[in-house]
Parts: sequence; C-alpha cells; structure tokens
Amino acid sequence: MRKILVIGIGAGNPEHMTVQAIKALNRADVLLIPTKGAEKAYLADVRREICDRFLENSSCRILDYAVPVRRADGTYEDGVHDWHRAIAGIYERTLLNELGENQTLGLLVWGDPMLYDSTLRIVEHVRTAGNVAFETEVIPGITSVQALCAGHGIALNRIGLPVEITTGRRLSEGWPESSRDALVMLDGVQAFRTVEDPEAEIWWGAYLGTPHEILLSGKLADIAETITETRAKAREAHGWIMDTYLIRRPAGEEEGA
Ligand SMILES: C[S@@+](CC[C@H](N)C(=O)[O-])C[C@H]1O[C@@H](n2cnc3c(N)ncnc32)[C@H](O)[C@@H]1O
Repeated sequence: MRKILVIGIGAGNPEHMTVQAIKALNRADVLLIPTKGAEKAYLADVRREICDRFLENSSCRILDYAVPVRRADGTYEDGVHDWHRAIAGIYERTLLNELGENQTLGLLVWGDPMLYDSTLRIVEHVRTAGNVAFETEVIPGITSVQALCAGHGIALNRIGLPVEITTGRRLSEGWPESSRDALVMLDGVQAFRTVEDPEAEIWWGAYLGTPHEILLSGKLADIAETITETRAKAREAHGWIMDTYLIRRPAGEEEGA
C-alpha cells in the first residue's frame, strides 16, 4: 500500500529536525515541497536545506508544487474549503502518478502538523475521495510555540493555569474567556494592541529559530509600540514575517496566583 508520511520539520531552524523526522525523511520515495511568494520561498528554502543536510536516500525525488491561490471572493470558509480541495488534488495526483504501489510520499510540515496546519485535514480529503488507497503516519515536530518559549527561556503555562492558543483575528474580537494567558499565532492585525490591561506582559518572537530571529518582552503597555515598529521594519526588510507571542494578564484572586 502507498503511504503518506506527514513529517513535522520544526519552526525554522533545520536543527529542530528530530532523529525520528530525519529517519522518516529518508524513508520517502518522493518529497513534495510547496512554493509561492516571498514567505513561501523562504519556507521552501528551509525545506531544501533540510533535504541537503539530512537526506541520504539518493533515489528520493523532490518535487516542487505551486500552492494554489486561496479565493478571496465568497465566505472565508468556502475559500478555505476550495483551497484544501485543490491541494488534495495535488496530493492525489502525486500519489497516483509519481508513486509505485508500495512507495511513500513525504510531506514536510512547518512546525508540528497538529498546530494550526491543515495538512492532516487535506490528507483526509484525499482518503475520502477514495481514488487511491494509502496509509498515513505522522511524525511530530518542534512548534513555533516551543521555539518562542525556548527563545525567551520561559514556561508556557503558569502553575496550574490554562493557556488559550488562539489567532490574532480572534484576539482582536476580545480577550478569551477561558484563560488569563493567551498564546497568539497567525496575527496579521497586531491584535496585541487591542489588549488594554496595564498589567499585561508580552513575550513576542519573530522568525523564531532562523538567523533573523527577533525577541522582545516586557509590559505590553510599554513595548507595544516598539513591537509594532520592529515588526513593520522587519517585514519590509525581508518581504514577509511570521510572529508569535504570549500575553499574560495578572491572574484573578479566585485563581490563587
Ligand atoms: C500556519 S501556522 C503554522 C504553525 C506551525 N504548524 C507550528 O507548529 O508552529 C503559521 C503561524 O505559526 C507561527 N510561526 C510559525 N513559525 C514561526 C517562526 N519561525 N517564528 C514565529 N512565528 C512562527 C506564526 O504565528 C505563523 O503565523
């Protein structure tokens, strides 16, 4: 039976690759690398560097594919749905046209496949379409959340307290009800600027794990402006940015902090 290996490759530093991920890379007969735009070009370069450093299987073929463009008209959900179907079509054609009966396709997923990544959902679309039979195996990777906490030398959670992992879009609609600690990803709107608590603290990181890594931390009210300016300058210099941050607000008395 054909196999899809979904391999978490870490969040930007090729040395995030685990021994398990390196072994998985070398089990693949075909590796698919997505390309598109300045950000994707950088991500594709990290994937290629990973292959250059760790791939010893000389018969493995590396195939680039252009990531389909997400439709901007219609609802967000429809756009994502169609986009996933289009990528599922690429996976399916690769399985059918590029792999033999017992061969393995490797997908190199940024960070870990379980965190704000749709690869596993897209693979399930391919399965339910029913045109090709295959097994799936997932190899975990170092996430940007881990890279952020390691960069700042902090623990993700306070003792006994939850952390909400959320998006910038959601945070901009209001502070989460479930937690005083929010880990924010996918923030194109700098939602930290909407948090008005004067006691809130932030740990911010961009390009984590890469040579461009930037780390800033402190009282949110004191450094929000610095983060906004740093982010804008870095984005202009590199043509893209990926940033993640943790905000902690003082825990209420009922939480016994
Ligand atoms: C589509 S999600 C993918 C997350 C990934 N699966 C993970 O495990 O980290 C992309 C978001 O992850 C965060 N991210 C990923 N890599 C990052 C990095 N090297 N530095 C900062 N943030 C990063 C950013 O918030 C970015 O908008």
